[in-house]
Amino acid sequence: MASYLLKNASLASFAGTEPYGLIENGAVLVEKGQIRWVGPASQAPAAEQAYDLKGRLVTPGLIDCHSHIIYGGSRAHEFEMRLNGASYVDIAKAGGGILSTVKATRAATEDELVAQALPRLDALLSEGVTTLEVKSGYGLDTKSEITMLKAARKLGQARAVDIVTTFLGAHALPPEYKENRAGYLSLICQEMLPAMIGLADAVDAFCENIAFTLEETAQLFEAARKLGLPVKLHAEQLTNMGASRLAASFNALSVDHVEYLDQDGIDSIAKSGTVAVLLPGAFYYLREKQSPPVAGLRQAKVPMAVATDLNPGTSPVHSLLTAMNMACVLFGLTPEEALRGTTLNAAKALGLKDRGQIATGMKADLAIWNTDRPGNLSYPLGLNPCAAVIRNGALIRGSLA
Ligand code: NIG
Ligand code: FE
Repeated sequence: MASYLLKNASLASFAGTEPYGLIENGAVLVEKGQIRWVGPASQAPAAEQAYDLKGRLVTPGLIDCHSHIIYGGSRAHEFEMRLNGASYVDIAKAGGGILSTVKATRAATEDELVAQALPRLDALLSEGVTTLEVKSGYGLDTKSEITMLKAARKLGQARAVDIVTTFLGAHALPPEYKENRAGYLSLICQEMLPAMIGLADAVDAFCENIAFTLEETAQLFEAARKLGLPVKLHAEQLTNMGASRLAASFNALSVDHVEYLDQDGIDSIAKSGTVAVLLPGAFYYLREKQSPPVAGLRQAKVPMAVATDLNPGTSPVHSLLTAMNMACVLFGLTPEEALRGTTLNAAKALGLKDRGQIATGMKADLAIWNTDRPGNLSYPLGLNPCAAVIRNGALIRGSLA
């Protein structure tokens, strides 16, 4: 199939200034894996083949820009502990939480990690995800962090999805460095980071009073900068530490969680062009009370993205559409902001300029939905309206009939 036209489609293009970049009765010309033309069906150029989508919605392939999908073990018991009165912080301090996943992840082989992640990945893909970010951070030694990211890359060979990897060695202090924080920071900066060249697309940290300080994060970011690796940050999730301001000073791609972000933080990330990634799954599971400052972010025109944060402890969420719904119901995003947050702004959060929009020259990653209204993607829970998925111009799921 050299070139084909999708016609009679409702396009949420996220190009132009209209809400959703909506083009009703639109057409898309796809050739050699790329979008060649987009516009009203009446003006569509000729193509070798045409598919009538009968008014169905087409969006960019969805992008989940924050996940911890590679991990060993299970933390389901911690959910029970929390509902019996223990807090996330209590559990973390008692050696549970992230460190319990570290134990199980270190004990798993690369192939076991891949096999355990595939059903999780399949759940995401069934809803039109074509790009997924995957973090390390449950290995916390050089060998295990490398294994995690190799497993992440393998997901992209096992399934039709683009994987973007992030090194999160600064996720928690491993038990063997409990009395030697400086030693762990040196290990990260001097040994782990150089080993991540080619394996990690970006560097992340958990900047929080139960994790890493501002100074430690700055040290890591300096080292990343020397190696030319972009940075992002788990920031202002449980407290306000000024982590976003620090991230902005390093031109971070994104700051993620940001429930406790203040005006100063908003102003800093607005200036640096950093994306605020909202993760309502963790907020929901931890039964947090403080929502991210959505009105302030809007006013400052900070791009907002939405992601699953899929992880074993605080966000066992395997549905990006559910994360979009939660972002609307819990944080007050509009359905337009939620969908922009899993397409155009999610691409921005990953530093990707070739996707997230239906526009000429973009990669032909498209999702076709059994609805004509883009707002409907954020509305129901537990119903999957994904009819078909196209990646690099090829149909990889469902049918265009
Ligand atoms: O994004 N905040 C830190 N990291 C994860 C949680 C990881 C875990 O508890 O295993 C998050 O929510
Ligand atoms: Fe996370």
